[in-house]
Amino acid sequence: SRLSKFVDHLPDMPKLHGYELVDGVPKPRSLVIGMYSILWKFHRDLPPTRVFAYGRSKSKATVPGPTIESLHRVDTFVTWRNHLPSKHILPWDPTIPTAIPPRMKGIPTVVHLHGGILEPQSDGHADSWFTARFQSRGPTWTKKKYHYPNNQQPGNLWYHDHAMGLTRVNLLAGLVGAYVIRHPEVESSLGLPSAPEFDRTLVVFDRSFRADGSIYMNSTGNNPSIHPQWQPEYFGDAIIVNGKAWPYLVVQRRKYRFRIINASNARFFKFFFTNGLGFVHVGSDSAYLRSPVYVNETLLAPSEIADIVVDFSGSKSDEAILANGAAYPYPSGDPVNEANSKVMKFIIREERVVDSSRVPGKLIEYPLADVSQATRTRYITMYEYTSPTDEPTHLYINGRAYEERVTETPREGTTEVWEVINLTEDNHPLHIHLGLLAVVKQTEIVGLEEFKACMERRNNARVCHVERHASGRRSEAEEHERGWKNVYKVMPGHVTTMLVRFSYIHSANSSYSFDPTAEPGYVYHCHILDHEDNVMMRPLKIIR
Ligand code: C2O
Ligand code: CU
Repeated sequence: SRLSKFVDHLPDMPKLHGYELVDGVPKPRSLVIGMYSILWKFHRDLPPTRVFAYGRSKSKATVPGPTIESLHRVDTFVTWRNHLPSKHILPWDPTIPTAIPPRMKGIPTVVHLHGGILEPQSDGHADSWFTARFQSRGPTWTKKKYHYPNNQQPGNLWYHDHAMGLTRVNLLAGLVGAYVIRHPEVESSLGLPSAPEFDRTLVVFDRSFRADGSIYMNSTGNNPSIHPQWQPEYFGDAIIVNGKAWPYLVVQRRKYRFRIINASNARFFKFFFTNGLGFVHVGSDSAYLRSPVYVNETLLAPSEIADIVVDFSGSKSDEAILANGAAYPYPSGDPVNEANSKVMKFIIREERVVDSSRVPGKLIEYPLADVSQATRTRYITMYEYTSPTDEPTHLYINGRAYEERVTETPREGTTEVWEVINLTEDNHPLHIHLGLLAVVKQTEIVGLEEFKACMERRNNARVCHVERHASGRRSEAEEHERGWKNVYKVMPGHVTTMLVRFSYIHSANSSYSFDPTAEPGYVYHCHILDHEDNVMMRPLKIIR
């Protein structure tokens, strides 16, 4: 790429507290956060880029948006306001199921707090969208002020747009931000790096730009006669961290905690340091690990979060480049190139410093369910449909369109086994709203072609003898991915067995509750945004 790397300093996004301190006691807080069309500088040598950005006001809006800092069990309320213009900055495609306001006026948006355990009315359902001044509202829109009870494990979440059929373009335009839930009584004794300078959020995504600075997105679909714009995956050639292309950060020879969020549409990252520096996983998406896991690299799908500690005192060189080795699409696409194989640079100061932080042997245990507690088994099959020219036209779950009647109706408080069957060639990060999932096993499908042919005819895993086919090589989940997660990378040609828990009270002695059976319910979907939009997404309804 024509842009030089490592010339912009890594920004820290503005912090917004989701609580108020009244005489030192934390109290709930109501925030108003807007979405604005602004100009954003992604690189020293790139003209400013028109983006859509979250912020408390237009002059404070940033890409990514402000990091919301909340406290365990202290309510945060957010009124999300749409101040966007009437036309989108990116091409969208009315031939996929899309939120379209009357007279095509305004840009539909709705905010989902990814990883939040929330009432359906505040979950940012794809059909609960709204345009500027709430002028047009989607069919399931219920209220302006969302309630985030933060009544769950301390950990990392993020917020992003979720409007029907527009999620890929609204995120590409900039509508993403980080959200941290802290629980000082429990976390401070861990001794992890905690001063803001040493505990940082990194929001990573890929983007392409034209010479004039504008975001480039191919506006002609691979199958223009079917979908004039929709593409199966968006990949950008520049890697952006906290709103800067290939930034750098000067660090001390000590431990740092990085909460890394993959906010890309479709790009997986396999992160590692070019100087061989290892690091430690302390948390996964939305929760701590039971104990730390030492690694040299980590694979992060879109929407996954790695909460890691890097000890730069162990670095032999005074520079460490955070690199990427993941093919795109993952796993069988193009290998990385000069541009997308680099993420950011750490410049390590020479002096030794006193570092009183540590990585303890035990972190926070989050009781695991076991298969014997599961009340039922569901088969969830991922399909890709192609045109006669072998170009993808759409992707479905269980062969069903999004609008077809709800079929996943777990009972409140139960745990189910989900057998997720991936008949495609791509890895699909499956994200389940409300539910928490834990992977049990991943088994290669034997006789894949025969099984696929049967599934395409019958669309019924039992009828097609899934047990007989799910008998190949077993792959272990990575050690740091064996706890509760809210998204999991579903391997192609495998059946991934997971436990999914639909109970939502996470603190003993909590009096807070909500009705998960309320309208509009939830969704579950692939988090490759271009897949989610066309329409690898299905409704999820909790029943009593
Ligand atoms: Cu991160 Cu349904 O989304
Ligand atoms: Cu997918």
